[in-house]
Amino acid sequence: MSVHRVAVIGGDGIGPEVTAAALEVVAAAGVEVATTAFDLGAARYLRDGFVLDDATLEELRAHDAILLGAIGPAIGDTRIPGGVLERGLLLRLRFGLDLYINYRPFEGVAGSLAAGTRFAIVRENTEGPYAGEGGTLRRGTSHEIATQGSVNTRFGVERCVRYAFERAAASARPKVTLVHKTNVLTFAGDLWSRVVAEVRSEYPQVEVDYNHVDAACIYLVEDPGRYSVIVTDNLFGDILSDLAGAVSGGIGYAASANLNPARTGASLFEPVHGAAHDIAGTGRANPLAAISSAALMLEHLGETDAARRIERAVADSDAKVIAAGTAAITAAVIERL
Ligand code: IPM
Ligand code: MN
Repeated sequence: MSVHRVAVIGGDGIGPEVTAAALEVVAAAGVEVATTAFDLGAARYLRDGFVLDDATLEELRAHDAILLGAIGPAIGDTRIPGGVLERGLLLRLRFGLDLYINYRPFEGVAGSLAAGTRFAIVRENTEGPYAGEGGTLRRGTSHEIATQGSVNTRFGVERCVRYAFERAAASARPKVTLVHKTNVLTFAGDLWSRVVAEVRSEYPQVEVDYNHVDAACIYLVEDPGRYSVIVTDNLFGDILSDLAGAVSGGIGYAASANLNPARTGASLFEPVHGAAHDIAGTGRANPLAAISSAALMLEHLGETDAARRIERAVADSDAKVIAAGTAAITAAVIERL
C-alpha cells in the first residue's frame, strides 16, 4: 500500500499525548503514514487568536485523513467564549469537509453495564440543531427572542440512514434502530421515519426498530444488548453517544469517525473524550480511544487487516493495564498486535 498522508491535530490538554500513542500503534501495525502537524485549538487561539481559515481548511482537505486528539480549554478557563472553538473549528471542519456521518462504535468492557455488547451509533453530522439556524432579536431586553431551529434535509437524512443500513447489513447482527422523538418533533420525525421506511425496503435482511430518545436512554442502561446500529440526528446522537460511552466503561474508550463516505474531503478521526487538562502531562491519560480512532482511520484508508488487529489488541486490554498509564497501555497494545 502507498504511504497515507495524515494530518495530525493534537490539540489541547491530553490531545497531543494520545495522538502520539495512536501513531505509535499505527506504525507498529506496519502501516506507513506521512504526518503533517497542524497547530489548532485552544492553546493556539489564546496565543495568536487563530481558529481556522479557508487556506488551512483546504490544506486539511488535501490529506487522506485527519487524526485529532482533543480541542478545548481547561474547565473554568473563561478566556474563550463558548462556541468559538466548537463552531469555529470542530463544526467548521465537519461542515466544510462534509463529514456527514459521525460513526461511534461501542464495546462494553468487563464490569461495565454493557459488558460483552457491541453496538454503534450513526449520528447525522452536518444538520439538525447544529446547522446554526436561528438568531436573536432584542437581545438583552425583556422582549428578547431566541430561536434555534433544526434543519433536516431529505438529502442529509437519506445519506445518513443509508449509511446506517450499509453498516448493519455488514454486521453480525443486522438491525437498525431509529432513535428520535416523533411524537413531539412531528415534522422532522416524520421525515426521518419515512426515509427509514423507504430505505429499509432495499435491505430486507436488516431488522428495523424505533425508539423514542427518552426511552432509548433507559434501554441503553438496562438492556444495551438490544441495539446493533442506532441511527439518529445530530443532537440526539451527541447526547446518546456520551451515555453509550458511560455504559460501555467510560468515554475514555469511545472512538469516533467523522466520515465523508463520498470522499470529497478528508475524513476526521477523534476520541469522544475531551482535553482533560487536569491530567495533561502526568502520563495518566488513557490512549485507547485515540488508538481505536486510529483503527477506524485505517479501516477508512483500506488498511483493513491492520485495523482489525488494532481493534482486537484494544479489546483485550484489561483493567490492570489501564491503571498503568499512557506509555504502559500503548506498549501493551503494541505487544498484543
Ligand atoms: C462531540 C462534542 C462536540 C459535539 C462539541 C465539542 C462541539 O461534544 O464530538 O460529541 O457536540 O458534537
Ligand atoms: Mn458530544
